[in-house]
Amino acid sequence: MEFRNFHKIAFITLLFCVPFAYGWGIDGHLIICRLAQLRLSETAAEAVSQLLPAYANNDLGSVCSWADRVKFRYHWSSPLHYIDTPDNVCTYEYNRDCKDEDGIQDRCVAGAINNYTTQLLSYGKANSASQYNLTEALLFLSHFIGDIHQPLHVGFTSDRGANTIDVRWYRRKEVLHHVWDNNIIETAEQRFYDSNVDELIDALQKNITTVWSKQAKAWEACSKTACPDVYASEGIKAACDWAYKGVKEGSVLQDNYFLSRRPVVNLRLAQGGVRLAATLNRIFR
Ligand SMILES: *[C@@H]1O[C@H](CO)[C@@H](O)[C@H](O)[C@H]1NC(C)=O
Ligand SMILES: *[C@@H]1O[C@H](CO)[C@@H](O)[C@H](O)[C@H]1NC(C)=O
Ligand SMILES: *[C@@H]1O[C@H](CO)[C@@H](O)[C@H](O)[C@H]1NC(C)=O
Ligand SMILES: [Zn+2]
Repeated sequence: MEFRNFHKIAFITLLFCVPFAYGWGIDGHLIICRLAQLRLSETAAEAVSQLLPAYANNDLGSVCSWADRVKFRYHWSSPLHYIDTPDNVCTYEYNRDCKDEDGIQDRCVAGAINNYTTQLLSYGKANSASQYNLTEALLFLSHFIGDIHQPLHVGFTSDRGANTIDVRWYRRKEVLHHVWDNNIIETAEQRFYDSNVDELIDALQKNITTVWSKQAKAWEACSKTACPDVYASEGIKAACDWAYKGVKEGSVLQDNYFLSRRPVVNLRLAQGGVRLAATLNRIFR
């Protein structure tokens, strides 16, 4: 009975969240936060554990989609999940692109990453009863470093990051944005990992420490505390080279698209996890 109700509630929650989700889906964020938490320094792990709400049970992954759930309550936060770049230009520039639809500067996912990084730097500093809620800052930062790694979160302006491009994912009607938020990950989980997200996390974690271990060092590099502009530039390039490429209104996407894009999604998830950890390790020294 409780079990059934739980599913009913979960289902209703999903109904409300998914159609408007402007981020990796729940699994994408979960994967990135779980990968990150495994790589925290002792000091950062301690700070994260202090800042997490009690109901998270010290599992950053469990609250990694919090920022999507509060988008309506905190309406001001909804432009902070993405960046719109000029159509077909395939580059990103902070000053040109990091603004909301009203043209207000800094209101994009790169500006938000800088913002919440700065707030978290006041953690543990004497006489800094911070004016901000640092629990929220941690949850926003963890979510946004995930979002900026979803290629279509740095997409074109007129199609709203491919939210207006209707396609079929195999037989299902979807928009292209959602294919990258959810479908590629879900289909991979079903086909290769027994529908078990933990197995996908283990496979990514294993590759980070083996075939990607050299590259992972380079992913972490950042001369400041946070480097969202680097990630956004990679994002629009991947959007042009892989996400938008070969797709038009009404395209049917199946094995050809799925199998060739899956490595890109795996790479972005791994980079997101490694970079979230590196950023938190630089913040909490
Ligand atoms: C910075 O964080 C504060 C507190 O959450 C928020 O009110 C503000 O809109 C944020 N600005 C940006 C650009 O993220
Ligand atoms: C900080 O934010 C969290 C999540 O919104 C909330 O549960 C908590 O009560 C807030 N803390 C303070 C001191 O306002
Ligand atoms: C891990 O690396 C191997 C070898 O390059 C690759 O075949 C596999 O798809 C990768 N798995 C993930 C989840 O990235
Ligand atoms: Zn989001």
